[in-house]
Amino acid sequence: MKFLITGGAGFMGSNFIRYILNKYPEHEVVNLDKLTYAGNLENLKDVETNTRYEFVKGDIADEKVVDQVMQKGIDQIVNFAAETHVDRSIHGAKSFIMTDVFGTYNLLEAAKKYKTQKYIQVSTDEVFGSTEDGEFYEDTAFEPNSPYSASKAGGDHLVRAYWKTYDLPTVVTHSCNFYGPYQYPEKLIPLFVTNLIEGKKIPVYGDGQQVREWIFVPDYCRALDTVIQKGEIGEVYNIGSGYRKANLEITNIILGLMGQGNDMIEYVKDRPGHDKRYAVNSDKLRKLGWKPDVQFEQGIKDTVEWYKENELWWKRLKSGEYLDYYKKQYG
Ligand code: TYD
Repeated sequence: MKFLITGGAGFMGSNFIRYILNKYPEHEVVNLDKLTYAGNLENLKDVETNTRYEFVKGDIADEKVVDQVMQKGIDQIVNFAAETHVDRSIHGAKSFIMTDVFGTYNLLEAAKKYKTQKYIQVSTDEVFGSTEDGEFYEDTAFEPNSPYSASKAGGDHLVRAYWKTYDLPTVVTHSCNFYGPYQYPEKLIPLFVTNLIEGKKIPVYGDGQQVREWIFVPDYCRALDTVIQKGEIGEVYNIGSGYRKANLEITNIILGLMGQGNDMIEYVKDRPGHDKRYAVNSDKLRKLGWKPDVQFEQGIKDTVEWYKENELWWKRLKSGEYLDYYKKQYG
Protein backbone atom coordinates (compact mmCIF):
# COMPACT_ATOMS: atom_id res chain seq x y z
CA MET A 1 0.00 0.00 0.00
CA LYS A 2 1.39 3.39 -0.98
CA PHE A 3 0.00 6.40 0.86
CA LEU A 4 0.19 9.99 -0.19
CA ILE A 5 0.18 11.89 3.09
CA THR A 6 -0.12 15.60 2.49
CA GLY A 7 1.06 18.03 5.14
CA GLY A 8 3.27 15.28 6.49
CA ALA A 9 5.85 17.66 7.89
CA GLY A 10 3.31 19.22 10.25
CA PHE A 11 2.45 18.14 13.75
CA MET A 12 -0.23 15.57 13.01
CA GLY A 13 1.03 14.47 9.61
CA SER A 14 4.51 13.70 10.92
CA ASN A 15 3.17 11.74 13.86
CA PHE A 16 0.92 9.76 11.53
CA ILE A 17 3.71 9.01 9.05
CA ARG A 18 5.89 7.66 11.87
CA TYR A 19 2.95 5.58 13.11
CA ILE A 20 2.24 4.06 9.66
CA LEU A 21 5.88 3.25 8.88
CA ASN A 22 6.40 1.63 12.29
CA LYS A 23 3.17 -0.30 12.37
CA TYR A 24 3.02 -1.59 8.79
CA PRO A 25 6.35 -2.89 7.46
CA GLU A 26 4.87 -3.25 3.97
CA HIS A 27 3.40 0.27 3.63
CA GLU A 28 5.10 3.11 1.77
CA VAL A 29 4.56 6.83 2.29
CA VAL A 30 5.04 9.82 0.04
CA ASN A 31 4.95 13.03 2.07
CA LEU A 32 3.89 16.08 0.05
CA ASP A 33 4.42 19.19 2.13
CA LYS A 34 4.84 22.86 1.29
CA LEU A 35 7.05 23.51 4.34
CA THR A 36 5.19 26.55 5.56
CA TYR A 37 6.04 27.99 8.97
CA ALA A 38 4.32 24.99 10.59
CA GLY A 39 6.01 22.28 8.51
CA ASN A 40 9.32 21.02 9.73
CA LEU A 41 11.35 18.08 8.47
CA GLU A 42 13.07 17.89 11.86
CA ASN A 43 9.83 16.21 12.96
CA LEU A 44 10.74 13.28 10.70
CA LYS A 45 14.51 13.02 11.20
CA ASP A 46 14.15 9.43 12.40
CA VAL A 47 12.39 8.22 9.23
CA GLU A 48 14.34 10.29 6.69
CA THR A 49 16.50 7.35 5.59
CA ASN A 50 13.68 4.81 5.58
CA THR A 51 13.47 3.36 2.04
CA ARG A 52 9.68 3.26 2.32
CA TYR A 53 9.52 7.02 2.86
CA GLU A 54 9.86 9.80 0.32
CA PHE A 55 9.55 13.55 0.78
CA VAL A 56 8.37 15.90 -1.97
CA LYS A 57 8.30 19.63 -1.36
CA GLY A 58 5.15 21.05 -2.90
CA ASP A 59 1.80 22.68 -2.46
CA ILE A 60 -1.48 20.76 -2.75
CA ALA A 61 -2.85 23.86 -4.50
CA ASP A 62 -0.30 23.27 -7.29
CA GLU A 63 -1.96 21.00 -9.83
CA LYS A 64 1.31 20.05 -11.54
CA VAL A 65 3.08 18.92 -8.38
CA VAL A 66 0.06 16.92 -7.29
CA ASP A 67 -0.08 15.23 -10.69
CA GLN A 68 3.65 14.36 -10.56
CA VAL A 69 3.21 12.84 -7.13
CA MET A 70 0.20 10.80 -8.22
CA GLN A 71 2.32 9.25 -10.98
CA LYS A 72 4.28 7.49 -8.25
CA GLY A 73 1.43 4.97 -7.99
CA ILE A 74 -0.54 6.22 -4.98
CA ASP A 75 -3.16 3.84 -3.55
CA GLN A 76 -4.67 6.07 -0.86
CA ILE A 77 -4.55 9.79 -0.06
CA VAL A 78 -4.67 11.12 3.49
CA ASN A 79 -5.10 14.89 3.38
CA PHE A 80 -3.54 16.50 6.44
CA ALA A 81 -2.30 19.58 4.56
CA ALA A 82 -4.09 22.62 5.93
CA GLU A 83 -3.70 26.05 7.35
CA THR A 84 -5.04 25.40 10.84
CA HIS A 85 -4.57 28.30 13.21
CA VAL A 86 -7.75 30.25 13.97
CA ASP A 87 -5.94 33.44 15.06
CA ARG A 88 -3.93 33.53 11.82
CA SER A 89 -7.14 33.08 9.80
CA ILE A 90 -8.64 36.09 11.56
CA HIS A 91 -5.70 38.19 10.32
CA GLY A 92 -5.94 36.89 6.75
CA ALA A 93 -8.05 34.14 5.22
CA LYS A 94 -6.54 33.86 1.74
CA SER A 95 -3.95 31.15 2.44
CA PHE A 96 -6.66 29.20 4.26
CA ILE A 97 -8.94 29.27 1.25
CA MET A 98 -6.09 28.41 -1.11
CA THR A 99 -4.94 25.38 0.86
CA ASP A 100 -8.02 24.14 2.68
CA VAL A 101 -10.53 24.66 -0.16
CA PHE A 102 -8.65 24.91 -3.46
CA GLY A 103 -5.97 22.43 -2.38
CA THR A 104 -8.64 19.92 -1.37
CA TYR A 105 -10.31 20.38 -4.76
CA ASN A 106 -6.98 19.66 -6.50
CA LEU A 107 -6.46 16.47 -4.53
CA LEU A 108 -10.01 15.32 -5.22
CA GLU A 109 -9.50 15.92 -8.93
CA ALA A 110 -6.26 13.93 -8.80
CA ALA A 111 -7.95 11.11 -6.88
CA LYS A 112 -10.67 11.03 -9.55
CA LYS A 113 -8.18 11.04 -12.44
CA TYR A 114 -5.96 8.33 -10.96
CA LYS A 115 -8.85 6.24 -9.59
CA THR A 116 -7.41 6.29 -6.08
CA GLN A 117 -8.66 3.47 -3.81
CA LYS A 118 -9.52 5.80 -0.96
CA TYR A 119 -9.38 9.51 -0.17
CA ILE A 120 -9.34 10.38 3.53
CA GLN A 121 -10.10 13.94 4.55
CA VAL A 122 -8.66 15.03 7.88
CA SER A 123 -10.92 17.69 9.30
CA THR A 124 -11.96 19.34 12.50
CA ASP A 125 -14.92 19.51 14.87
CA GLU A 126 -14.72 23.30 14.46
CA VAL A 127 -16.83 23.08 11.27
CA PHE A 128 -19.85 22.40 13.51
CA GLY A 129 -19.55 25.74 15.29
CA SER A 130 -20.06 25.89 19.03
CA THR A 131 -22.35 23.99 21.40
CA GLU A 132 -23.39 25.21 24.87
CA ASP A 133 -24.05 21.80 26.43
CA GLY A 134 -24.64 19.28 23.63
CA GLU A 135 -22.37 17.19 21.40
CA PHE A 136 -21.55 17.31 17.70
CA TYR A 137 -22.69 14.27 15.76
CA GLU A 138 -21.48 13.27 12.31
CA ASP A 139 -24.67 14.69 10.78
CA THR A 140 -24.75 17.93 12.80
CA ALA A 141 -25.12 20.86 10.38
CA PHE A 142 -21.97 22.87 9.68
CA GLU A 143 -21.93 26.32 11.32
CA PRO A 144 -18.31 27.49 11.03
CA ASN A 145 -17.49 30.70 12.89
CA SER A 146 -13.90 31.51 11.88
CA PRO A 147 -12.33 31.88 8.44
CA TYR A 148 -10.31 28.76 9.32
CA SER A 149 -13.30 26.57 10.12
CA ALA A 150 -15.22 27.98 7.14
CA SER A 151 -12.32 26.98 4.87
CA LYS A 152 -12.22 23.46 6.30
CA ALA A 153 -16.01 23.23 5.96
CA GLY A 154 -15.69 24.25 2.29
CA GLY A 155 -13.13 21.50 1.66
CA ASP A 156 -15.28 18.94 3.49
CA HIS A 157 -18.34 19.87 1.43
CA LEU A 158 -16.31 19.32 -1.74
CA VAL A 159 -15.28 15.88 -0.50
CA ARG A 160 -18.92 14.96 0.05
CA ALA A 161 -19.85 16.31 -3.38
CA TYR A 162 -17.13 14.26 -5.11
CA TRP A 163 -18.43 11.14 -3.42
CA LYS A 164 -22.06 11.88 -4.32
CA THR A 165 -21.36 13.12 -7.85
CA TYR A 166 -18.46 10.95 -9.02
CA ASP A 167 -18.61 8.00 -6.62
CA LEU A 168 -15.15 8.95 -5.40
CA PRO A 169 -14.30 6.62 -2.47
CA THR A 170 -14.02 9.18 0.30
CA VAL A 171 -14.06 9.11 4.10
CA VAL A 172 -14.19 12.28 6.23
CA THR A 173 -13.00 12.60 9.85
CA HIS A 174 -13.80 15.44 12.25
CA SER A 175 -11.40 15.45 15.15
CA CYS A 176 -11.35 17.31 18.43
CA ASN A 177 -8.25 19.34 19.45
CA PHE A 178 -4.93 17.44 19.34
CA TYR A 179 -1.96 17.77 21.64
CA GLY A 180 1.40 16.07 22.08
CA PRO A 181 5.03 16.16 20.90
CA TYR A 182 5.93 18.25 17.80
CA GLN A 183 2.93 20.60 17.99
CA TYR A 184 3.82 24.05 16.72
CA PRO A 185 4.10 26.44 19.68
CA GLU A 186 1.28 28.75 18.61
CA LYS A 187 -1.45 26.42 19.90
CA LEU A 188 -2.65 26.69 23.48
CA ILE A 189 -0.74 23.83 25.12
CA PRO A 190 2.73 24.15 23.51
CA LEU A 191 2.53 27.96 23.58
CA PHE A 192 1.88 28.00 27.30
CA VAL A 193 4.48 25.34 28.11
CA THR A 194 7.22 26.98 26.04
CA ASN A 195 6.37 30.48 27.30
CA LEU A 196 6.70 29.27 30.88
CA ILE A 197 10.06 27.62 30.15
CA GLU A 198 11.19 30.97 28.71
CA GLY A 199 9.88 32.83 31.76
CA LYS A 200 7.17 34.58 29.74
CA LYS A 201 3.54 35.11 30.73
CA ILE A 202 0.76 32.99 29.26
CA PRO A 203 -2.07 34.81 27.45
CA VAL A 204 -5.52 33.48 28.40
CA TYR A 205 -8.18 34.82 26.03
CA GLY A 206 -11.25 36.37 27.70
CA ASP A 207 -12.35 34.59 30.87
CA GLY A 208 -10.69 31.25 29.96
CA GLN A 209 -13.97 29.39 30.37
CA GLN A 210 -14.07 28.11 26.77
CA VAL A 211 -14.12 24.33 26.55
CA ARG A 212 -12.26 22.12 24.09
CA GLU A 213 -12.05 18.33 23.82
CA TRP A 214 -8.44 17.09 23.75
CA ILE A 215 -6.93 13.96 22.21
CA PHE A 216 -3.34 12.81 22.71
CA VAL A 217 -1.53 12.24 19.44
CA PRO A 218 -0.89 8.43 19.71
CA ASP A 219 -4.59 7.88 20.44
CA TYR A 220 -5.43 10.03 17.44
CA CYS A 221 -3.12 8.03 15.13
CA ARG A 222 -4.81 4.78 16.16
CA ALA A 223 -8.23 6.37 15.67
CA LEU A 224 -7.43 7.54 12.15
CA ASP A 225 -5.92 4.15 11.32
CA THR A 226 -9.14 2.49 12.51
CA VAL A 227 -11.18 4.74 10.23
CA ILE A 228 -8.87 4.00 7.28
CA GLN A 229 -9.09 0.24 7.90
CA LYS A 230 -12.71 -0.15 8.92
CA GLY A 231 -14.55 3.01 7.96
CA GLU A 232 -17.12 2.81 5.22
CA ILE A 233 -16.80 4.71 1.98
CA GLY A 234 -18.91 7.87 1.85
CA GLU A 235 -19.11 7.97 5.64
CA VAL A 236 -18.10 10.60 8.17
CA TYR A 237 -16.47 9.76 11.52
CA ASN A 238 -15.94 11.97 14.55
CA ILE A 239 -12.72 11.44 16.51
CA GLY A 240 -13.05 12.40 20.17
CA SER A 241 -11.44 11.47 23.46
CA GLY A 242 -14.22 12.60 25.83
CA TYR A 243 -11.67 14.75 27.77
CA ARG A 244 -13.43 18.11 27.77
CA LYS A 245 -11.62 20.87 29.60
CA ALA A 246 -11.96 24.62 30.08
CA ASN A 247 -8.88 26.56 28.97
CA LEU A 248 -8.32 27.80 32.50
CA GLU A 249 -8.38 24.22 33.82
CA ILE A 250 -5.64 23.27 31.34
CA THR A 251 -3.74 26.43 32.23
CA ASN A 252 -3.78 25.45 35.90
CA ILE A 253 -2.66 21.88 35.14
CA ILE A 254 0.26 23.22 33.10
CA LEU A 255 1.19 25.76 35.80
CA GLY A 256 1.10 22.94 38.37
CA LEU A 257 3.32 20.66 36.26
CA MET A 258 5.78 23.51 35.71
CA GLY A 259 5.80 24.46 39.39
CA GLN A 260 4.59 27.98 38.64
CA GLY A 261 1.75 30.12 39.95
CA ASN A 262 -1.28 32.08 38.76
CA ASP A 263 0.81 35.24 38.57
CA MET A 264 2.13 33.95 35.21
CA ILE A 265 -1.37 34.27 33.69
CA GLU A 266 -2.12 37.34 31.62
CA TYR A 267 -5.80 37.74 30.79
CA VAL A 268 -5.92 39.25 27.32
CA LYS A 269 -8.63 40.48 24.95
CA ASP A 270 -10.88 37.67 23.76
CA ARG A 271 -10.53 36.16 20.28
CA PRO A 272 -13.21 37.62 17.97
CA GLY A 273 -15.98 35.10 17.27
CA HIS A 274 -14.45 32.82 19.92
CA ASP A 275 -16.30 29.48 20.01
CA LYS A 276 -17.46 28.73 23.54
CA ARG A 277 -17.42 24.97 23.56
CA TYR A 278 -16.58 21.97 21.37
CA ALA A 279 -17.64 18.43 22.25
CA VAL A 280 -17.79 15.55 19.80
CA ASN A 281 -19.77 12.36 20.02
CA SER A 282 -17.45 9.57 18.83
CA ASP A 283 -19.72 6.53 19.36
CA LYS A 284 -19.65 5.71 15.65
CA LEU A 285 -15.84 5.39 15.71
CA ARG A 286 -15.89 3.47 19.00
CA LYS A 287 -18.22 0.93 17.39
CA LEU A 288 -15.36 0.19 14.97
CA GLY A 289 -13.31 -0.97 17.98
CA TRP A 290 -11.31 2.12 18.99
CA LYS A 291 -11.08 3.85 22.34
CA PRO A 292 -8.52 6.26 23.78
CA ASP A 293 -5.74 4.69 25.88
CA VAL A 294 -4.15 7.74 27.46
CA GLN A 295 -5.83 9.75 30.21
CA PHE A 296 -5.56 13.50 29.85
CA GLU A 297 -3.50 13.93 33.04
CA GLN A 298 -0.89 11.47 31.71
CA GLY A 299 -0.84 12.87 28.18
CA ILE A 300 -0.31 16.44 29.31
CA LYS A 301 2.44 15.35 31.72
CA ASP A 302 4.27 13.54 28.90
CA THR A 303 3.79 16.53 26.62
CA VAL A 304 5.23 19.00 29.14
CA GLU A 305 8.23 16.65 29.61
CA TRP A 306 8.77 16.43 25.85
CA TYR A 307 8.85 20.23 25.46
CA LYS A 308 11.27 20.49 28.38
CA GLU A 309 13.56 17.92 26.75
CA ASN A 310 13.34 19.34 23.23
CA GLU A 311 14.07 23.04 23.73
CA LEU A 312 16.25 23.32 20.65
CA TRP A 313 13.42 22.05 18.43
CA TRP A 314 10.87 24.68 19.47
CA LYS A 315 13.36 27.50 20.00
CA ARG A 316 14.48 27.14 16.38
CA LEU A 317 10.84 27.05 15.28
CA LYS A 318 9.91 30.13 17.28
CA SER A 319 12.88 32.03 15.84
CA GLY A 320 12.09 31.05 12.23
CA GLU A 321 15.52 29.40 11.87
CA TYR A 322 14.16 26.28 10.14
CA LEU A 323 12.25 28.35 7.60
CA ASP A 324 15.45 30.10 6.50
CA TYR A 325 17.18 26.73 6.26
CA TYR A 326 14.46 25.15 4.10
CA LYS A 327 14.35 28.20 1.88
CA LYS A 328 18.05 27.69 1.13
CA GLN A 329 17.63 23.94 0.72
CA TYR A 330 14.45 23.76 -1.38
CA GLY A 331 13.90 27.32 -2.67
P1 TYD B 1 -6.05 26.77 19.91
O1 TYD B 1 -4.94 25.91 20.42
O2 TYD B 1 -5.71 27.93 19.03
O3 TYD B 1 -7.07 25.77 19.17
P2 TYD B 1 -8.57 26.07 18.59
O4 TYD B 1 -8.84 27.52 18.60
O5 TYD B 1 -8.48 25.53 17.22
O6 TYD B 1 -9.49 25.30 19.49
O7 TYD B 1 -6.88 27.33 21.13
C1 TYD B 1 -7.46 26.46 22.07
C2 TYD B 1 -8.23 27.32 23.05
O8 TYD B 1 -7.31 28.11 23.80
C3 TYD B 1 -9.17 28.31 22.38
O9 TYD B 1 -10.36 28.43 23.16
C4 TYD B 1 -8.41 29.62 22.40
C5 TYD B 1 -7.56 29.51 23.65
N1 TYD B 1 -6.25 30.19 23.61
C6 TYD B 1 -5.90 31.10 24.61
O10 TYD B 1 -6.66 31.36 25.57
N2 TYD B 1 -4.68 31.71 24.52
C7 TYD B 1 -3.81 31.47 23.50
O11 TYD B 1 -2.72 32.08 23.45
C8 TYD B 1 -4.18 30.52 22.48
C9 TYD B 1 -3.26 30.21 21.34
C10 TYD B 1 -5.42 29.91 22.58
